[in-house]
Amino acid sequence: MKEQDRRMLTLDQLQVHVQDLGRLELNEELSRQLDEFKKMPALYHLALKELENKVETLKTEWKMRDGYSPIEHIKSRVKEPKSILQKLERKGYALSFENIETHIHDIAGMRIVCAFVKDIYRLADHFSAREDIRVLEIKDYIAQPKPNGYQSLHVIVAVPLILLDGTKWVKAEIQLRTLAMDFWASMEHILYYKYDKQLPAHVADELKSAARAADELDKKMLRLRREILELS
Ligand code: GTP
Ligand code: MG
Repeated sequence: MKEQDRRMLTLDQLQVHVQDLGRLELNEELSRQLDEFKKMPALYHLALKELENKVETLKTEWKMRDGYSPIEHIKSRVKEPKSILQKLERKGYALSFENIETHIHDIAGMRIVCAFVKDIYRLADHFSAREDIRVLEIKDYIAQPKPNGYQSLHVIVAVPLILLDGTKWVKAEIQLRTLAMDFWASMEHILYYKYDKQLPAHVADELKSAARAADELDKKMLRLRREILELS
């Protein structure tokens, strides 16, 4: 195609787009969707802040009461709009705000890294017992690790945001891991992308064996902890 033709084609397409835009502007449903999309990042950021606050309070309270907190550190992020749309497409849902709200649970994401496996379940039980957190789903990849060796407890929750129009429960995914599980997941993530999501068999095998080593380390630490507690 000659350069000039290519430019003409683009212009044609552009004209179609402009016509479409004119039509779309009149569409009430589309402007409602756009409004919701604009509000979305702010809502999820606020919900995540609320959740961070709850967890920070818990951490401080635990430290004051027991002299030790089961929470080592927390990290949170809001999913980029591009990743949200890619995930919606991958899952086969049409693009709408309602589909995003219903089917994408990890727009607000928090990772809580604990010292011991026991602490992870203690925290999950605590979340389940609270009235200001609704536990919607738990995926236990510790009891049942993924085939590649991945271990974590994933808890899908909803937290209340008090807005002018009333209370809105916003979803978030909390990943709970030990330090060893977090170390493994970070390494796996680096390798996965280094090999362009296709790990050679020997690397996948080594990773599985590293996951077992991490699991052993967690169990050893738990035994040591028990020993220390019995001594004191
Ligand atoms: P998707 O988010 O669509 O995959 O939904 P899902 O229900 O399959 O979620 P899943 O529980 O598999 O995992 C969600 C998140 O957990 C991912 O975005 C990662 O942060 C983390 N995760 C899951 N599997 C792995 C893994 O094999 N390696 C690493 N490093 N992280 C993982
Ligand atoms: Mg997944």
